[in-house]
Amino acid sequence: MKNIIILCFVCLVTISDTNSSSDGKEKCEGIYVRDKFHKKVVIGMGLNRPYQLAYDHHNHKIFFSYNIGKDDEDSFQIGFLEKGHIKHKVLKEVENGFAIAINNNDNVVYFGGSDGIYKQHLKSNDSVIEKILSHQNIWDMFFKHHLYFIAYPSQKLYKYEHRQNKTIPEHQKIIHEKIFQFAIDGDEDKFFTNETGLYRIKNSTDHRIFYEGPKVYRAIEIDNKGVPHFSGQNGIFVVNKKNDTLEKIAHVKNIFGLAFDNDNNIVYSDPHEIVKLLPEDC
Ligand SMILES: *[C@@H]1O[C@H](CO)[C@@H](O)[C@H](O)[C@H]1NC(C)=O
Ligand SMILES: *[C@@H]1O[C@H](CO)[C@@H](O)[C@H](O)[C@H]1NC(C)=O
Ligand SMILES: *[C@@H]1O[C@H](CO)[C@@H](O)[C@H](O)[C@H]1NC(C)=O
Ligand SMILES: *[C@@H]1O[C@H](CO)[C@@H](O)[C@H](O)[C@H]1NC(C)=O
Ligand SMILES: *[C@@H]1O[C@H](CO)[C@@H](O)[C@H](O)[C@H]1NC(C)=O
Ligand SMILES: *[C@@H]1O[C@H](CO)[C@@H](O)[C@H](O)[C@H]1NC(C)=O
Repeated sequence: MKNIIILCFVCLVTISDTNSSSDGKEKCEGIYVRDKFHKKVVIGMGLNRPYQLAYDHHNHKIFFSYNIGKDDEDSFQIGFLEKGHIKHKVLKEVENGFAIAINNNDNVVYFGGSDGIYKQHLKSNDSVIEKILSHQNIWDMFFKHHLYFIAYPSQKLYKYEHRQNKTIPEHQKIIHEKIFQFAIDGDEDKFFTNETGLYRIKNSTDHRIFYEGPKVYRAIEIDNKGVPHFSGQNGIFVVNKKNDTLEKIAHVKNIFGLAFDNDNNIVYSDPHEIVKLLPEDC
């Protein structure tokens, strides 16, 4: 009964709020980010748990991995959305593609799957996808100056290093923990998550600072200004380094992935959609 009343209330509010000026179809939906209204623009839909978003600043493509198995089965594929196309395309070259990292300075995107890492140049639309590492199952990846990856099932952090003519994965001993996510922000502080939660390692130290907050995080993403953002239980978080607290800047139910477009607008995914948030009224 209560639900019905709430539902009807929502209907009324939606109808009276919708100022469908031109086509009469647009719904005014939005989310508050740092107390400012942001319009929700759906850019991908009908996807099964799109995850690991990466925004290509050159072509405005959005890469993501998504589930292609049954709900209880972990089978993934990498897809991408081209600017202005709501229908996604599939990257078939990457076996069980799950992890994605992007280097927007050099226009290179990396894909990680169950049999290694692949690389593609973004400057041309049909450039080849080249395998650069074999015999590793990739859990997550991050790019800053170098490619970092977390191997599965060890959950150890590696840096993909060029040594003379060889490329070798170098285990990062500074992080001895079994981790889920890793990133380096604009202050060169390192962040990681493990089963206990979120930690920061200040530049040139090895002290771990723990952030009280959600236990499970689905992404750490650095915005275009070097500020780390965390997608956690039903929200987007940032850290306050002055008193080492976590601040929720937006409430987003069941958020999965996070990314930032060229104008530093937030792009996120929930279990079925990929959405861009624009600081506008609608
Ligand atoms: C709808 O738009 C009209 C004209 O732009 C404006 O006067 C009115 O206040 C708007 N209504 C709502 C509910 O936003
Ligand atoms: C790639 O294709 C998209 C969509 O077809 C187009 O907008 C873009 O300009 C192309 N990029 C390059 C580098 O050719
Ligand atoms: C690197 O590759 C070049 C050209 O293939 C070769 O001449 C050189 O000896 C290699 N260097 C090492 C250290 O293997
Ligand atoms: C990080 O630490 C290194 C070594 O102490 C220092 O050279 C560098 O300037 C620091 N980076 C930042 C962004 O503070
Ligand atoms: C996560 O890392 C912290 C910091 O090193 C450590 O204290 C904690 O035990 C780790 N959690 C698990 C479950 O290993
Ligand atoms: C930390 O600082 C922020 C603003 O600087 C403040 O809003 C917040 O309440 C502080 N948190 C604690 C636990 O002191």
